[in-house]
Amino acid sequence: MKQLLIISHAPSENTKKMLQAVIKGANHPDIEHVNVKYIAPLDTQPDDIKSAHAIIIGTTENLGYMAGLIKDVFDRCYYPCLDHTQGLPFTFYIRAGHDGTGTRKAIESISKGLRWRLVQEPLICKGDFQEAFITQCEELGLTMAASLDAGII
Ligand SMILES: Cc1cc2nc3c(=O)[nH]c(=O)nc-3n(C[C@H](O)[C@H](O)[C@H](O)COP(=O)(O)O)c2cc1C
Repeated sequence: MKQLLIISHAPSENTKKMLQAVIKGANHPDIEHVNVKYIAPLDTQPDDIKSAHAIIIGTTENLGYMAGLIKDVFDRCYYPCLDHTQGLPFTFYIRAGHDGTGTRKAIESISKGLRWRLVQEPLICKGDFQEAFITQCEELGLTMAASLDAGII
């Protein structure tokens, strides 16, 4: 079994729904060889990342940047992972009230340092909350899990 790790900060009802949608998509019944694991940011340890075959990161945008709890994951895990996770396939999604750009740039910059592979266009759900975000999150989870299952990432 391949391990798909989801690390997401979901502080509100909307972001909780988005996270549940990502998890649901990744657990699609047609996907047979992928084990999906969600770990809250504070509980995420370097070994969780090292043992993952692919990662989805979810964050809100706060003050033009990723949520502090997601930054904390990178702060704690960057160096322990650096020599062990190069090429790790990942993607991410952002819930932003009106922008998302600063968060996207920051995650792209840190993940470039780690030499992770961005294998799927990040999802930025910005503006007033829309039910379409839920569908998009489900698709994000499904696509990552299906790609891992098929061995194409
Ligand atoms: C302190 C604070 C700072 C925020 N800063 C930004 C920001 O810089 N850019 C942005 O697009 N949204 C910002 N937001 C909005 C949050 O991203 C949004 O409220 C959060 O993703 C939850 O979304 P929801 O209201 O759909 O649950 C901020 C929210 C708070 C509480």
